Amino acid sequence: MNGFQYYTPTKVVFGKDTEHQAGALVREFGGTKVLVHYGKGSVKRSGLLDRVFQSLDDAEIPWVELGGAVPNPHLSLVHEGIDLCRREGVDFILAVGGGSAIDSAKAIGYGVRYDGEVWDFYEKTAVAKESVPVGVILTLAATGSEMSNSSVITNEEGWLKRGYSSDLGRPKFAIMNPELTYTLPEYQTMSGCVDIMMHTMERYFSHEMNTELTDHLAEGLLKTVIHQAKILQKDPQNYEARSEVFWAGSLSHNGLTGCGRAGDWACHQLEHELGGMFDVTHGAGLAAVWGSWARYVYRDDVSRFAKFAVNVMDIPYDYADSEKTALEGIEALECFFRSIHMPTSISELGVELTEEQIQELAYKCSHMDKRTIGGIKKLDRTDMEHIYRMAR
Ligand code: NZQ
Ligand code: ZN
Repeated sequence: MNGFQYYTPTKVVFGKDTEHQAGALVREFGGTKVLVHYGKGSVKRSGLLDRVFQSLDDAEIPWVELGGAVPNPHLSLVHEGIDLCRREGVDFILAVGGGSAIDSAKAIGYGVRYDGEVWDFYEKTAVAKESVPVGVILTLAATGSEMSNSSVITNEEGWLKRGYSSDLGRPKFAIMNPELTYTLPEYQTMSGCVDIMMHTMERYFSHEMNTELTDHLAEGLLKTVIHQAKILQKDPQNYEARSEVFWAGSLSHNGLTGCGRAGDWACHQLEHELGGMFDVTHGAGLAAVWGSWARYVYRDDVSRFAKFAVNVMDIPYDYADSEKTALEGIEALECFFRSIHMPTSISELGVELTEEQIQELAYKCSHMDKRTIGGIKKLDRTDMEHIYRMAR
């Protein structure tokens, strides 16, 4: 087991009607003036936003609002949020929505307390020293941003999608009422399930051998999501299934399923370029590239892929041919993705990649040929091109 740090300062408040505690929680964490930040309107249509404003009013906390965070959230809105917070003397940001609203809120939080350009953090030319604290009311089980240290923003100039990770960005609290996810379209629910699984698998697929507990946690989480996604497909208002997936989402990306392991993260990097250039839904983009990535790299650790096949996908172990077991596991997961109507190729995302676009994606993903990605197998720009081509 590798050495590790495990830091999860987020207070999770889970269950029905918990959004009514928003005002009290902001107060508990020292907020005296709040920016309520949200997406394109689902939280208005559902009536959630009115309940949040009421809760802040009840706690006598003044607030201002900024909606408009789009999926693959844009830097320009982050700039708008920074200006608004400075003008209004905001000292706490409450994100209401999915990963995009949360990531945008985190970026605003970094930017308010920084004299330079907030994109510096995402370009890794600066490190955040301070941030306005963020709290979350989550409406989508997917990114784990409600407990994670990450924020992913798209710069419309060049359509570059970049992540920044800092413990300063970890939300102070996450209000999680599973009922708030009832209104999700099936595509978002299932993309979320894929994203949750991928956060776990990105940590699972690396070469470390002796992480028995971490592996069991990861395998249990993956089996839970597979099981509950099938239930949600037939019964989207099943409270227990929504609850399991909601909690899995948070645990998949707060570090727990990666303790002692190095992680891989290549699929996320490959997907981020697709998201930046073609605005695809993150989880669906991950499903579209995973199988091609897996077939490209599995020979670098056949036993790990075979373990995944047996312990997660219930494939019988072939003692004479572990490679066959590994490949059956990859096929089985792709079958599951198809069964929940997730794509297993980029064309199914509605994107017909040209050869030039493949080269551009790989060029950007390799940070203009300056980095490799991946852990189980190091991938350079040429490898990335191969995988995009296979996934096409
Ligand atoms: O904008 P609104 O109107 O709210 O609609 C959203 C949006 O259209 C809708 N939605 C959310 N909750 C809903 C709902 N519709 C009905 N009922 C509800 N309860 O769903 C759509 C997608 O929302 P979004 O927030 O974009 O989805 P998600 O949570 O998947 O976030 C995706 C973003 O997070 C990044 C992704 O790359 C992407 O930019 N990620 C962030 C991570 C992190 N911070 O740790 C890690 C991830 O790997 C990921 O990269
Ligand atoms: Zn993700």
